[in-house]
Amino acid sequence: TTKRKNILITGGAGFIGSHVVQLFVQKYPDYNIINLDCLTYAGNLENLIEVENSPNYFFERVNILDERNLVEVFQKHQITDVIHLAAESHVDRSITDPLAFVKTNVIGTVNLLNTAKAFWEDYSEHLFYHVSTDEVYGSLDHGGFFLESTPYDPQSPYSASKASSDHFVRAYANTYKLKTVITNCSNNYGPNQFPEKLIPLCIHNIKNNKPLPVYGKGENIRDWLYVVDHARGIDVVFHQGRSGETYNIGGFNEWKNIDIVRLLCKKMDEKLGREKGSSEKLITFVKDRAGHDLRYAIDATKIKNELGWEPSLQFEEGISKTIDWYLENEDWLKNVTSGNYQKYYEEHY
Ligand code: NAD
Ligand code: DAU
Repeated sequence: TTKRKNILITGGAGFIGSHVVQLFVQKYPDYNIINLDCLTYAGNLENLIEVENSPNYFFERVNILDERNLVEVFQKHQITDVIHLAAESHVDRSITDPLAFVKTNVIGTVNLLNTAKAFWEDYSEHLFYHVSTDEVYGSLDHGGFFLESTPYDPQSPYSASKASSDHFVRAYANTYKLKTVITNCSNNYGPNQFPEKLIPLCIHNIKNNKPLPVYGKGENIRDWLYVVDHARGIDVVFHQGRSGETYNIGGFNEWKNIDIVRLLCKKMDEKLGREKGSSEKLITFVKDRAGHDLRYAIDATKIKNELGWEPSLQFEEGISKTIDWYLENEDWLKNVTSGNYQKYYEEHY
């Protein structure tokens, strides 16, 4: 049996947040889950159709920059815990508009910390869980892994804003004794991911016979994790993680970008009944991302040894499920790629 909680999940209409909301709403009927999201281009309530009618699910359209509304939501729902995912999340957008990242990721996080700090009385009874990224550790050459003790060395406006927010969370734990936990996760993929990110962008473009823009030589390496496994990790850390700690979450699953794009081409040729090798012809090498980090790789030993979490899905299986989801959810893709997306796409590619 679980103790009654009213958990505020921010960014719950986004990619990862929607999976976390779904997991918590369905797994913990005794918890009230309050999804707070202002619905930017990346927020989409269609990601939540499985849970939108559940009696323990609530939605509040609020911007984390708006302190007054945050306080109201804490009061209205008697918030007991926070899982904070709301953020500007796309590195390329942070290069063209860094200030938007400072606002939401830094100031928004501090607003949320202030609201929790003022609203909660006995801090030992409440948890502020901050969801962060492996990008705060900077870029690796070809050896080594990011550990929880790796010094911060953010290289993009996005990672600088996330690193800053992590520092504020730790500062609130140290200064005001707020109970906090942070997880730093590697690259996620899976259903509901906005098609500005590498994997859904390629799936969308292969389907439509459009060029597949590979930055630089495609030699950059990322460590990929299926989004549901990240949500499972958040569940485990939320319930069993030690207060004040950081846990890295990753798949021990490193891939060069070009190899991922080739894998997507191969699988989609099979699934769409196209001639072998035909999608690969769409691969187009384009100008590199400014300041492009070479390699990320998470050492996820701590969460495994301490909390028993491990990824459940093999990469090729996860990729296959992901492609199937995008092919089966044409309307979702059509809705998010109309309007503003067109402008973004034309400006970037
Ligand atoms: P996303 O861009 O898909 O979703 C972000 C959500 O936050 C959207 O629903 C958006 O509407 C909401 N949001 C943005 N600004 C807001 C504001 N000012 N007020 C209220 N809501 C706001 O992002 P994602 O990929 O799901 O990432 C979620 C979190 O996980 C982020 O904190 C990100 O840094 C972190 N993270 C992401 C990855 C990844 O691979 N995508 C990996 C590690 C960590
Ligand atoms: O590592 C975790 C991070 O992963 C998260 O914190 C971020 O929120 C998330 O967006 C992601 O960042 P990346 O920059 O690694 O993801 P993206 O999908 O944008 O790019 C993956 C790699 O593919 C990267 O090396 C850049 C490259 N790329 C990307 C795009 C969009 C291309 O070659 N072509 C593209 O069109």
